Amino acid sequence: MATYKIAVLSGDGIGQEVTPQAQKVLNVVGKAAGASFEFEPALVGGVAIDATGGPLPESTLRLCQQSHAILFGSVGGPKWDNLLQEQRPERGLLALRKELDLFANLRPARCFPMLVDASPLKRSVVEGTDIMVIRELTGGLYFGEPRGREKLPDGGERAVNTMVYTSREIERVARAAFDVAMKRKKRLTSVDKANVLIVSQLWRDVVTRVGKDYPAVELDHVLVDNCAMALVHKPTQFDTIVAENTFGDILSDEAAILAGSMGMLPSASLGGKVGLYEPVHGTAPDIAGKNLANPLALLFSSVMMLRHLGQDRPAARVEKAAKRLLEEGKVLTRDLGGRASTTQVTERLVELL
Ligand code: NAD
Ligand code: IPM
Ligand code: MN
Repeated sequence: MATYKIAVLSGDGIGQEVTPQAQKVLNVVGKAAGASFEFEPALVGGVAIDATGGPLPESTLRLCQQSHAILFGSVGGPKWDNLLQEQRPERGLLALRKELDLFANLRPARCFPMLVDASPLKRSVVEGTDIMVIRELTGGLYFGEPRGREKLPDGGERAVNTMVYTSREIERVARAAFDVAMKRKKRLTSVDKANVLIVSQLWRDVVTRVGKDYPAVELDHVLVDNCAMALVHKPTQFDTIVAENTFGDILSDEAAILAGSMGMLPSASLGGKVGLYEPVHGTAPDIAGKNLANPLALLFSSVMMLRHLGQDRPAARVEKAAKRLLEEGKVLTRDLGGRASTTQVTERLVELL
C-alpha cells in the first residue's frame, strides 16, 4: 500500500474550513485505490504568529520538507493587517514558496458548461474557456532587492520594490510552461510589459530563445495590460499563459471570473522536491467561520496533487464526482448561486464517489 505523508497547513479564515473537506475526500478515494494519507497538521500564517510569534515556524518548514506534498489553505486577515510587511501572515507563504523553490505555479481556469451562468460575463464570452496560467512564483517584483521604506529629510517617505529576473530564472519557468503547453493545445502566450520595462525585455528574449527548443508550440507575446483586457473580451483565444509573479497573481484572480467564482480556482506550486497545493483564493474574511466557503478550489487542488503523486485513478474519480455535483446543480455554495454549506458540498461529493 502506498503511503503518503501530507503536510496540512490550513492557515487562517476559510483555509481552516476547506482543508478538512479535502482530507475527507482524499481518505475516501485513497482507501479504494490502496493509498493511504498521513495528514500532519502544522501552523502557518496568522495562527502561527499568534502561537509562535512568526508566520512560518521552523518546525512547519521542516515538516514540509519531509513530506510528499503540502495541502495549503490560505493565510491573512484583518487581525494581522497592521503588522509590518515582513511580519505579516502572507510572509509565511512567500517564505515557504522560496524555501521549497516552488518557482512554477500552475493555475488552471476552466469554465465548466454547467457553470456558464455563474459567471457575470456573457455566455458567448466565457463558454469553452480552458486556460492554464503559469505564474512565476519565487522571483520578480515580489522578491527583488532592494526593497524597503525609509524616511526622507524633507519629512516625506520613500518606498521601493524591484522587479528583477536572471535569465536562468526566466528560462526554468519558460521551460515548465512550454512543457505544459505541449500537453495542451500547444499554444503559449507569454505576458510582459516589454514596451516599458527592461526586465520584461529580458523575459521576452529568454522565452523566445527557449521557444526554439519547442518548435511545435505556437508562441506569442502579449503586453500585460492588453492581456487583462483580452481575458474578459475573448478568453477562448488563450490556452497556456506564462507570466511574471505579480502579473500572474493579478491575471489569475481575473481568470477566476471566467470559471464562475474565486471558489473554483485550484493551483499547484512546483519546481522543488515537494509540491504545494493551494486554492487561488484567500481567507475570505467576509464569509469566514460561517461554513459558506466553496471547498471545490481546494478539492481541485487535491486532484492536481493526486496526479503529481502518480495517483491518476483516484484523481479522475474526484474530478468526475465534482463534475457530477456541478451538473446536478443542487448542492452548491452561494458563490455558485446555491444555498448549501461547505460541509454539505463535501457530503454530497462523497455520496457521488
Ligand atoms: P479572497 O480571495 O480571500 O476573497 C475575495 C472574494 O472572493 C471575497 O468576496 C470572498 O468571499 C470570495 N471567495 C474567496 N474564496 C471563496 C470560496 N472558497 N468560496 C466562496 N467565496 C470565496 O481575497 P481578499 O479578500 O483580497 O483577501 C483576504 C485575505 O486573504 C487577505 O489577508 C489576503 O492577503 C489573503 N489572501 C491569501 C491568499 C493565500 O493564502 N494564498 C490568497 C489571496 C489572498
Ligand atoms: C496568492 C496570494 C498570495 C500572493 C499572497 C497571500 C501572498 O494572493 O497566492 O495569489 O500574492 O501570491
Ligand atoms: Mn493572489
